[in-house]
Amino acid sequence: MKSFFFKKKKYSIDSNGVITRKSHSNIALIKYWGKHKNKIQIPSNSSISYSLGEVYTVTRLSYEIKKRNFSLRVFFSGKEKTSFIPKILEFFHRISFYCSYLRDFNFIIETYNTFPHSSGIASSASSMSSLALCIMEIEKKLVSSLKKDFLLKKASFLARLGSGSACRSIYPGLVVWGSHQSIKGSNNLYAIQYPYKIHPIFTKMVDTILIIDETPKKILSSKGHQLMKNHPYAKERFKNANKNMDRLISILKIGDLQEFGKLIEHEALTLHAMIMTSRPYFIWMKPNTLNVLHNVWDFRMQSKKNIYFTLDAGANVHLLYPIQEKKYIIKWIYSDLFFYCKKIIESFCL
Ligand code: DP6
Repeated sequence: MKSFFFKKKKYSIDSNGVITRKSHSNIALIKYWGKHKNKIQIPSNSSISYSLGEVYTVTRLSYEIKKRNFSLRVFFSGKEKTSFIPKILEFFHRISFYCSYLRDFNFIIETYNTFPHSSGIASSASSMSSLALCIMEIEKKLVSSLKKDFLLKKASFLARLGSGSACRSIYPGLVVWGSHQSIKGSNNLYAIQYPYKIHPIFTKMVDTILIIDETPKKILSSKGHQLMKNHPYAKERFKNANKNMDRLISILKIGDLQEFGKLIEHEALTLHAMIMTSRPYFIWMKPNTLNVLHNVWDFRMQSKKNIYFTLDAGANVHLLYPIQEKKYIIKWIYSDLFFYCKKIIESFCL
């Protein structure tokens, strides 16, 4: 993408500085699962997510003009993490084509999350997007005329190169990534804010996250995406995801909560079906994930409340429902579901 290249040949900047940026996690309603072969971080289908309040990463990026060799140190929650360096180095390498100035500095990255790392809550999304935002702040120091629109667009473009879902975390609200014929402006290189009418019911949704399992995932999503390459059902899945996007557009417009629920639950179970039918196969759900899902279905039948689940690449459950129904539902969650959880995180869709 030509316009994202940093073209300035000469620039001046303070020899060192510190930038802090915060970025929210997101939960996909239509899932990104599978990438194009032989292309870097291009999704096989379009996806859409809600960015989440209360669930975020704060990144502090300290930079210093490089005197000799490049150096990078990474701290997570105050502790130095050399194990994070390869992924960040790969990210820096990928984006250095678009941010050539990165080669002039040494960096210290300090970061913390408000949620458990590698538990199925998209920590790579919020951490890569907050890092991308920090980097774009450096670029802004070099190009004073840089507009906010461009800053966010390029931050999303860069974040995508770190982790696909991270490109959606740059924006609040409903965010689309991946080219879709019915969504104007949607593209594979960066995310955009959902551009069409959203019924008010979908602008104030609660997301209560049930942490069923805090241990790091056995199959990381980057490996999981690869398993879609030779997956027997991949083609159908990608077609279906795009059809679901069309359905979601009309659901969001008319405010049909029940259809919304059916769609997001089907998407979540499809994602899990994909990993269960990969080679090698895997099950992310734990017994308590299933206990929660069945409880949600029973409760919904009996109470007629609009509460629906979605899942990420892990055992945890996201419960989505309109804020108007929160009082009743949250009481039920603590009384009937707490037993199955390690922790409950009360979040909301931004
Ligand atoms: C299941 O964005 O973590 O959360 O691009 O390899 O870093 P990489 O994958 P990642 O995949 C997220 C997959 C998902 C669904 C989604 O968020 O759309």
